[in-house]
Amino acid sequence: MNPADSHGFTDPGAMTDVVFQRCIDPRCGATVDLSDTSFACPACGGLLDVAYDWNRLPVPTSFKHFEAKWANRTDPLDFSGVWRFRDLFPFAPADKIMTIGEGQTLCQRADAVAAYVGMKPGNLYLQYEGMNPSGSFKDNGMTAAFTHARMVGARRAACASTGNTSASLAIYCAATSLMRAVIFIGSGRISYGKLSQALDYGALTVQIAGDFDDALRRVQEVRRQLGIYLVNSVNPFRLEGQKTIMFRVLEALRWEVPDWIVVPGGNLGNVSSFGKAFSELKELGLIDRAPQLAVVNAAGANTFHQLYDRHGLRWNAGEFDRPKLAAYMTAMDAGDLRADTLASAIEINRPVNLPKALRALERCGGVVREATDTEILDAKARVGSGGLGCEPASAASVAGLLKLVKEGVIAPSDRVVCILTGHELKDPDATVAYHSSDPAAFEAKLGKRGVKRVAFANRAVQVPNDLNEIVKAIELYA
Ligand code: F0G
Repeated sequence: MNPADSHGFTDPGAMTDVVFQRCIDPRCGATVDLSDTSFACPACGGLLDVAYDWNRLPVPTSFKHFEAKWANRTDPLDFSGVWRFRDLFPFAPADKIMTIGEGQTLCQRADAVAAYVGMKPGNLYLQYEGMNPSGSFKDNGMTAAFTHARMVGARRAACASTGNTSASLAIYCAATSLMRAVIFIGSGRISYGKLSQALDYGALTVQIAGDFDDALRRVQEVRRQLGIYLVNSVNPFRLEGQKTIMFRVLEALRWEVPDWIVVPGGNLGNVSSFGKAFSELKELGLIDRAPQLAVVNAAGANTFHQLYDRHGLRWNAGEFDRPKLAAYMTAMDAGDLRADTLASAIEINRPVNLPKALRALERCGGVVREATDTEILDAKARVGSGGLGCEPASAASVAGLLKLVKEGVIAPSDRVVCILTGHELKDPDATVAYHSSDPAAFEAKLGKRGVKRVAFANRAVQVPNDLNEIVKAIELYA
């Protein structure tokens, strides 16, 4: 173990024998102390899970247990949409938990979007994670990682980011003054909405001449050298917090399991944590079946789709074809293949959680698809006109659903939840360019990235500054 990773617990009561980290490779299964922050298996270098000895922990026997917490909203831990489910990821003592009120999100029935994708009214729900304090789902995981960082006494926390992880880390650091945020971003690869958050919240912002994949490599090197706490989704504690997105979906559906969860795929943290959530709920007897998981890549960043669909890569109870994965990555490096999509949040070619995502799809069942930028932006416009705005990456879920209904993989009568991962205002440039009537504005943002036409533009009406003309325009168009 790197000495920089060996933090002593500041809390002597930490439950290190019933909660620990464990290598996800069943052939290895090495366990690691809860306090370790290397986030890689010391024996084989693989990914780690946070693991629980459920037999020795007080586990709720019914979902009613969580409803009882609604009555106790003056307790910040019960108010949090993440921590009110803390019995399902009990790694932190209550006095170490750092919450800023995350997880007050919506699961909204979306009939207009259902009509767009060809589903029956009442069968499609949008889980809107843009309502989190920093405007994306990341706060679900950040509160958990930040709590772990606090348990191990970290003073600095770092991430590489396409913009949302960094905004989330920065807001937790700013709101609590407990740590200094160090964020690595690819120069020119992050939308202004997200960059403005990191700057405003006071994070040390390192712009690297490269993309997310470069930034993630560098932040891992820097972490090793300086012993900074890493909050990217390779950190298994982040994924524990993200499980609660699924707990809230179930809660909103009155604890009925939907048929499908559709989620955009970038670094594949969400799909991994959703799979873990459902596996654990089944193990604990709280549900009897899991929904299927559909992961949607952007076509310009489609490593998972390629490997799963075209190369047939499967988890295979842990015996997945590692040489095939390594060869794919080596070929990508040799050709210097770069991710390229307007859905900048998921512009990622080397997803760190890929093995965990394979495991999730095996355990829950599921599919992987890709959507072009045009398909994503059209879906985004339909989400907006349906009453919930989202950023481009989030709309990949709806674009993917449209395909899956057309293919007959998802039936119009299935019950489906699409995850809208980030707020509309994260990337207003893409939205304005989409709806613009100015060809130059369209070209500058969308045309030059390959978008030729858009289906649902709501163009602003240009009128002279004259009352009669204004009235005429309103009568004509509204
Ligand atoms: N949607 C949004 C809005 C995101 O910001 C991200 C990832 C994803 C989807 C993909 O989620 O990695 O769990 O598959 N954003 C990261 C970031 C990479 O740095 O903000 P995933």
